[in-house]
Amino acid sequence: MTSLSSRSPQALVVAGAAAGSLATIFGMLLYRKFSNKKKPYREERQVLNALLQHGVNGNDVIPLMDRETAYTEAIHLGSSKGVILDQVVKENQPKVVVELGAYFGYSAVRMAKLLKDPEARIISIEPDSIRVAIASKVASIARVADKISFAFGTAEDVIPTLRDKFRIDHVGLIFIDHAKTRYVSDLLLFKTHGLLRPGTVVVADNIKNPGAPEYEAYMKASTEFSTEFHQVLYRDEDEKNDDVVAVSIYKGE
Ligand SMILES: C[S@@+](CC[C@H](N)C(=O)[O-])C[C@H]1O[C@@H](n2cnc3c(N)ncnc32)[C@H](O)[C@@H]1O
Repeated sequence: MTSLSSRSPQALVVAGAAAGSLATIFGMLLYRKFSNKKKPYREERQVLNALLQHGVNGNDVIPLMDRETAYTEAIHLGSSKGVILDQVVKENQPKVVVELGAYFGYSAVRMAKLLKDPEARIISIEPDSIRVAIASKVASIARVADKISFAFGTAEDVIPTLRDKFRIDHVGLIFIDHAKTRYVSDLLLFKTHGLLRPGTVVVADNIKNPGAPEYEAYMKASTEFSTEFHQVLYRDEDEKNDDVVAVSIYKGE
C-alpha cells in the first residue's frame, strides 16, 4: 500500500480536487434537503399547468383555480374573500378598475367575468414579468383578455401614467392587493393624480393576514373615506385562519 507521503504531488492535487468536489455535491444535497427551498413560481406554474392540462376555459377557469390552489401556499384572493369583491363589482359596475398586484390573474379574471359593460376595463399592475406573462395567458384562457390590460411595473411607477398612457379620467374601483407597506402611499398617488371621484370604491385585501396596520389606521381615521371592514376566512378550506377585507368609499375632500 502506498502511503500519502509517498504519492506524487500531482496525485495529491487530483485526490484533493476530487474530495473537494464530493464535499461540494454533498453540501448541495444537504442544503436542498434541509433548506426547504421553494421552486420559483411554484403555484403560478401549478395553476397554468392545470388549466392547460385539463383544457378548461371560460367560466370553468375560476373553479379550477380554486380547486388547484386549495391547501397550497398561493397568495391570491381566493373564493371566500372573492365573494366580497364580487359583490362590489356587481353592485357598482365600474367602467374602470385598477388592480395593484396581478400575481397569476385570479382576481382580475374574477372581476372581469362580472363586468357587464363591454367597454368596461381593468388595468392590473404587476412588477414581475413572469407573472405578467402567466396572468395574460390565464386571462386569455378565461376569455376575458379583451377586458384586462396587465401593466408591467410597480404601482408607484404606473399610477402616474394612467391618465396619459391608458386614457383614464378617473377610476371606479381600485383593488389593492400588493406590497402591504405601500397600500397608503399608492392609494394617495391616485388622489395626487386626480383619479378619484366621490363614489370611487377601494377594496383592500390582507388587512389582518398578513396585515396592513398602517392602511387600517389610515382608513379608520379618514374623513374622506367611509370604510367597512369585513372579517372572512382566509381560505374556504382553512377554518383556523381569517382575514379582513376593507371596502372604502371615497366621499371627496
Ligand atoms: C397577493 S399577490 C396579488 C394577488 C392577486 N390580486 C389575486 O388575488 O389573484 C401580490 C402581487 O403584488 C405584486 N407586487 C409586489 N409589489 C408590487 C408593487 N410595488 N406594485 C404592484 N404590484 C406589486 C407581487 O409581485 C404579487 O404578484
